[in-house]
Amino acid sequence: MALPVTDLRALVTALPGMDALLPALAELGEPSYLVGGAVRDVLRGARSVDLDVAVEGDGPAAARALAERLGGSVVLHDRFSTATVRAGSLAVDLAGTRREVYTRPGALPTVEPASLVEDLGRRDFTVNAMAIGLTGEALGRLRDPGGGRADLETGLIRTLHPASFLDDPTRLLRALRYESRLGFALERETARLAREAAEAGALSTVSGVRVRVELMDLLAEPEAPRSVTRLAELGLDHALHPAVDADPELVAAAKLGALETGASPALTALAALCAGRPEVRASARDELEVWVEALGLPGPARDAVLRAAAYANALAKALRASWRPSELHELLEGEPPEPLALALALGAPEEVVLLYTRRLRSVRLEISGADLLAAGVAESPAVGLALRETLRRKLDGELCGREEELRTALELAREAT
Ligand code: CTP
Repeated sequence: MALPVTDLRALVTALPGMDALLPALAELGEPSYLVGGAVRDVLRGARSVDLDVAVEGDGPAAARALAERLGGSVVLHDRFSTATVRAGSLAVDLAGTRREVYTRPGALPTVEPASLVEDLGRRDFTVNAMAIGLTGEALGRLRDPGGGRADLETGLIRTLHPASFLDDPTRLLRALRYESRLGFALERETARLAREAAEAGALSTVSGVRVRVELMDLLAEPEAPRSVTRLAELGLDHALHPAVDADPELVAAAKLGALETGASPALTALAALCAGRPEVRASARDELEVWVEALGLPGPARDAVLRAAAYANALAKALRASWRPSELHELLEGEPPEPLALALALGAPEEVVLLYTRRLRSVRLEISGADLLAAGVAESPAVGLALRETLRRKLDGELCGREEELRTALELAREAT
């Protein structure tokens, strides 16, 4: 059912920050529109995180003028002539309306100024290709040349043209993210094009970093396991890498494990994609590692994923409920949380993993080597060994409090020297 213009105007005007933004945009004198995901979300009555504004005119100049009017700051992003304007709690992404030209499949596009309709036509899916006027008579008026509103009502993700997935293969992952998040389905022809693009190796035409951005967004969604099912159905799992194992149950368990252990859900889910299928694990691990490296994750995150993928299975088998806390601590000390989260998902005894992550991981001695030296012990490896043994006893509940720690450590250090 279509909303009357007045209702849309009221809805847009009520968005956070619009009280300041609308008068400032009006003063710019260029037609401005709310575009992209914010329009989709306004129409479905959901809160949107980002405000994307398109201006029919010079985007960067408009962004500078807007920042000045709002008394805020502007950051220009050269590549696509987009800008972010910040003023107080308001953050707006602003761009001139433009067309995109793809010099080859998967390349980043070159952009040229164009009309609003062309700008909407270059976008990923009809539900993301609508605009709502923010200025003058057009305030609150919906522009929907691609039929996004009808797709929003019937629950369909539909591309705007047949080459969309080849131009920008990251849209394959975006499509599945929206399916799961919105509870929608790929429109029939769009699903066929997605399969075709996956089979044609479209994903290998884009950089690992661009794949990672969309893959991590997909895995971070609460409904990620559904997207993982769809990855397999459309052949996108093997298009990412032939050894990727799109097991939705393992991904669901990995995300749960991450919540329990303080790991990153998306990183643990990524590790789950790389850890499954025992029959390929040994032979394809090196290649999968190369693929993970190419995703360009920050070093510690990459190491945690690789470690989890390679080690969580063995960890799940090794951990025993009968172990003493100190044994557990010795094995798991320094382990990033993601391998623990994935081990949990792979069947490691829950009470053992949680004993470590919730209690043992943070156990420290109240004393240090300096206390032993101050008590007259000579500097030597015996100091470190004594502290280690004292920690072991503390972990196993054999001593308690600073004084007992100091007494024990001094005894041990003196015995050894
Ligand atoms: N877009 C696109 N193709 C992409 C990425 C983005 O056409 N590969 C367009 C879509 O119109 C999208 C808009 O740019 O709505 C903004 O992109 P982004 O912020 O990634 O999407 P949103 O829909 O705003 O945000 P989200 O998906 O997180 O709700």
